[in-house]
Amino acid sequence: MGEANAAPEPLQAICYERGSLRLLDQRKLPLESIYLDIKDSKDGWDAIREMVVRGAPAIAIAAALSLAIEVHNHEFKGTPAEAADFIVKKLEFLVSSRPTAVNLSDAATKLGDLVRKTSETTSEVETVFKAYIEAAEAMLENDVADNKAIGSHGSIFLRKKSEGLKKLCVLTHCNTGSLATAGYGTALGVIRALHAGGYLDKAFCTETRPFNQGSRLTAYELVHDKIPATLVADSAVAALMKSGTVNAVVVGADRIAANGDTANKIGTYSLALCAKHHGVQFYVAAPLTSIDLALSSGQQIVIEERSPKELLNSEGGLGKQVAASGISVWNPAFDVTPASLITAIITEKGVITKTADDAFDIKSFVESTS
Ligand code: MRU
Repeated sequence: MGEANAAPEPLQAICYERGSLRLLDQRKLPLESIYLDIKDSKDGWDAIREMVVRGAPAIAIAAALSLAIEVHNHEFKGTPAEAADFIVKKLEFLVSSRPTAVNLSDAATKLGDLVRKTSETTSEVETVFKAYIEAAEAMLENDVADNKAIGSHGSIFLRKKSEGLKKLCVLTHCNTGSLATAGYGTALGVIRALHAGGYLDKAFCTETRPFNQGSRLTAYELVHDKIPATLVADSAVAALMKSGTVNAVVVGADRIAANGDTANKIGTYSLALCAKHHGVQFYVAAPLTSIDLALSSGQQIVIEERSPKELLNSEGGLGKQVAASGISVWNPAFDVTPASLITAIITEKGVITKTADDAFDIKSFVESTS
């Protein structure tokens, strides 16, 4: 048994109480902790597009809550059906903020269905709005519990797979922690759970260029939680794995297709190739809301391309020019890691492992656990 480590005060990217939403401006981290007031869905859309808030689960929750604020403050004159239409249109608008993560469109579909159904059974607009607000608030509450379950399943599974090792060295990419979720995190939640149980030797986090979610946000969370950790350049990963120091890689997901192909932060695919070459286990940790059974493979996933400025200027585009004027830029925000490179997918309902024919049967797993 490892020695347990006490958990510190959690970081909060999303501060909400009914009628008030504040988002931690993640563009300013790690140097400044500034919260921005979000008054309506337009503010929510801007905050997501401009990366004030990012990370697939946090995007979905922040979007839903921004509309909850608008609905809470809205004097609506119309029928319940018109109130449901109003909400559905706003949700469609919010979904257009960032295309790759499925969590937001999944939430929009579920919330839209809920308000439509509610509007058919009531004559009060207030009832429709209340149903929406309560469902958006439940997303915030449930996410932390789901992440803790992911952490627990992941910690148990990784230890089982690394028999003989008392403590593990785990590499992660991008930011999948408290800042990318309502709290605790997915892949970083697995690292937190390993550390809390005394089973983590060390975490490695990549810089995650060009927006530096790893060096700015994950490093910040690891230092905040006093988790032993080392920051590496993205380009150091192959050498690090060759040194034999890394026992497992755990990353998050923005969208997992039915066959297990996984879209995640750009550079994840390179990590998975490196892991395969060096015989290192490669795990995806994500809630079931990151699974898109409508897509048979990762080829159908829309990959967001972001501004060339993120490469041309320092600080992920916010600082001074660092690249030669006139150079053209390709800046995909995500890539797709094929299922063949993924050892297992860790969810809040358990770990999805491969079948005898070396494939994931995600549909059966989802059906059997819901
Ligand atoms: O562009 P970002 O910062 O929103 O990208 C985030 C990621 O790719 C995360 O790994 C993913 O959303 C999972 S967050 C729990």
